[in-house]
Amino acid sequence: MFAVLLTVLCLVSVSRSAPLACEKLVKPLEQFDIQNLTGRWSFVAVSLKDRARENSVRRHYSIAVDIRNSSYIQAQRVAGRCQYFFLDFTLEGNVLTMKAGNVNLTGTLFYTSCADCMVLTTHIKSPTYRTVDFYLLSRRRQLEQKEIEEFSTQVMCLSMPPPVVMDPKTELCPIETTNQQTRENERETVASAK
Ligand SMILES: *[C@@H]1O[C@H](CO)[C@@H](O)[C@H](O)[C@H]1NC(C)=O
Ligand SMILES: *[C@@H]1O[C@H](CO)[C@@H](O)[C@H](O)[C@H]1NC(C)=O
Ligand SMILES: *[C@@H]1O[C@H](CO)[C@@H](O)[C@H](O)[C@H]1NC(C)=O
Repeated sequence: MFAVLLTVLCLVSVSRSAPLACEKLVKPLEQFDIQNLTGRWSFVAVSLKDRARENSVRRHYSIAVDIRNSSYIQAQRVAGRCQYFFLDFTLEGNVLTMKAGNVNLTGTLFYTSCADCMVLTTHIKSPTYRTVDFYLLSRRRQLEQKEIEEFSTQVMCLSMPPPVVMDPKTELCPIETTNQQTRENERETVASAK
């Protein structure tokens, strides 16, 4: 009788512990300081709902992000060259919103036990396509195994595909300091000067 009860309790505690752990791990951050997002980050691991895009991530040797005020600059190394994307974001509560042409990106930060990391989901919506990405970024290039494992658990809790882990040994692209607006202005200035 006791043995049976014990077995049942064990089953209950086992089946409960997983969702409880998930509950904490997939909790969106309620608020955070924009100062904490500022500066340079590198992508450590990425889980993509649309697995067809994984190959494109694998072609990126490294991806860095520079966040200043409301500008988001993604610097990625592809086939030895650096590509830069400039986006402006707005932060409302705990939601980051960006627009790239007719594509809307909505980022939500999640709990992480790693002090110099950022974990976020990005919902990507265009008129014809929608998907969800889940990212682990850090101030460090290389994380501890247990930090990667925590992210993998978060991925599992969200029922997302297994993460692609970036190679920490590849060089990051340098910080691009001029913003897109400045560059466009420059181009116009050059054009009108001719
Ligand atoms: C911001 O970072 C500081 C230290 O870097 C930390 O103490 C604080 O908890 C962080 N705040 C938020 C809201 O993440
Ligand atoms: C960010 O904004 C502050 C004031 O809002 C300004 O002083 C600073 O120059 C800005 N920094 C950049 C890199 O644009
Ligand atoms: C993107 O956001 C704008 C509002 O900022 C909205 O009007 C538009 O319908 C959104 N596009 C998609 C594809 O959801």
